[in-house]
Amino acid sequence: MSAEKKKLAILISGRGSNMLSIMKACEDEDYPAQIAVVLSNRPDAKGLDSAENAGIPAICVNHKDYPDRESFERALITALAPYTVDLVILAGFMRVLTPVFIRHFEGKILNIHPSLLPDYKGLDTHARAIADGKKEAGCTVHYVVPELDSGPIIVQKRVPILAGDTPDTLAARVLEQEHAAYPEAIRIALSVSA
Ligand code: GRF
Repeated sequence: MSAEKKKLAILISGRGSNMLSIMKACEDEDYPAQIAVVLSNRPDAKGLDSAENAGIPAICVNHKDYPDRESFERALITALAPYTVDLVILAGFMRVLTPVFIRHFEGKILNIHPSLLPDYKGLDTHARAIADGKKEAGCTVHYVVPELDSGPIIVQKRVPILAGDTPDTLAARVLEQEHAAYPEAIRIALSVSA
């Protein structure tokens, strides 16, 4: 691993397409980060295979093995400790985090959310935006604070909502922007913390 590049932990729960876009950005030698570890809370997450195939340490901490959120999060902290990461990147990580984890990595956790925050926090963002007759949707990369989907915004990207859009067609249009937004936001976050 390059000495100058900052280290990222990427936390996923599934497909991992955002993880792949970050992986691609990291291939550029001028990009300021490298992926030190990918961690999933689900053993069947497709993204774990993609990380392994790319030679990146890929580990699973299954939330079902723990009696409560706090003990799960202490296990996450223990699993990540050897990698001494500079940022924790939530990329489709579908567990709400408590202050146990958030305080441990205070100011170093980023999340991507598929809406133009502060609109549509939580789930089913695209269906809700369409149902409300909105003309625009998008995605937001933000710092993670204990209040859900509420931390300071780093990057937002917008897309139009078109006549006839379904939650799936809109999600696909937004996802393209997510793949551009996350590498950009990580670069900004690292330049601020440097
Ligand atoms: C993305 O739409 C992200 O915004 C949301 O979950 C999805 C994850 O997709 N939180 P992927 O696993 O990165 O492909």
